[in-house]
Amino acid sequence: MGNEDHSHFSGGLTLTENDHGSEQSALSESTGNEQSTVKLRVFRYKNLPKDDTSAPSTSFDTFQVPISNGTTLLDALIYVKEKLDPTLTFRYSCRMGICGSCGVNANGKEKLACKTQVKDLGENIEVRPLNNLSLIRDLTVDFKPFIEKNVKVKPYLVRNDVDVDGGFNREFRQTPDELNQYLMFANCLMCGLCYSACPTNATDELYLGPQALARAYRYIADSRDGGQLERIEIVDQEHAAWSCHFAGSCSDVCPKGVDPAFAIQQLKALALRKQGLLKRKKPSPLVERPRESVNPV
Ligand code: SF4
Ligand code: FES
Repeated sequence: MGNEDHSHFSGGLTLTENDHGSEQSALSESTGNEQSTVKLRVFRYKNLPKDDTSAPSTSFDTFQVPISNGTTLLDALIYVKEKLDPTLTFRYSCRMGICGSCGVNANGKEKLACKTQVKDLGENIEVRPLNNLSLIRDLTVDFKPFIEKNVKVKPYLVRNDVDVDGGFNREFRQTPDELNQYLMFANCLMCGLCYSACPTNATDELYLGPQALARAYRYIADSRDGGQLERIEIVDQEHAAWSCHFAGSCSDVCPKGVDPAFAIQQLKALALRKQGLLKRKKPSPLVERPRESVNPV
């Protein structure tokens, strides 16, 4: 699905264009260190009350935002909210690429707003909400289906052999090599950028998505986990690992270097092994070397 079409998840929406340039220039204040100004074209959406029968509409508002070295896209959005339009709605928390809540689509690509330098985006920047999730308001989307899919893959250590609640006087031992098997996948912030960029999620609302599948592999690859078969059962189904066409956009946009596309291919291989369709290649058997014929002459 292209960035411009949210109708699949939010009903038929009409789009209008509002340029508030004159209002904004009057409101714009000097911050003392601005070096240039960028044009921020921001997607707006407001859901109407249930008893309002008129169709909810979407629009774009354009704001002039002063920037300097180090201004992030999140700083620019906060500037708009604090100085130009307090109704602009977006999520953020940590401002340092940790919480994963500030994901947006900037100039057609999914990014964490707090990790994105405005100067890297050019002078005209278009900011839209993440794709493949329903709109709530402006740049905020509903993460509920995304979280539910993550929960489906049992994102925790499964152990039936020990009482893990039995106290803190025990530990699971793990070697550095065993840790490295899953460490990259444990860096996932659950920001949803991969989910938004995934073309399968765009066409299949039930598809688990790259985040949940990578999370499944993260636990399967953990030497302390005992839930491998349960999780393979979950991912070896319709709307799961086999729906991935290996487009790779999930890995491309991930801000933490997680490689969900690789994890999904690993899950496919594990599923085939479970079905007995992919057997480990056996080395060719040892055979007696034929004796050289002896010429009796
Ligand atoms: S895999 Fe990367 S892009 Fe996807 S949710 Fe996790 S951190 Fe975000
Ligand atoms: S605000 Fe926390 S990751 Fe951007």
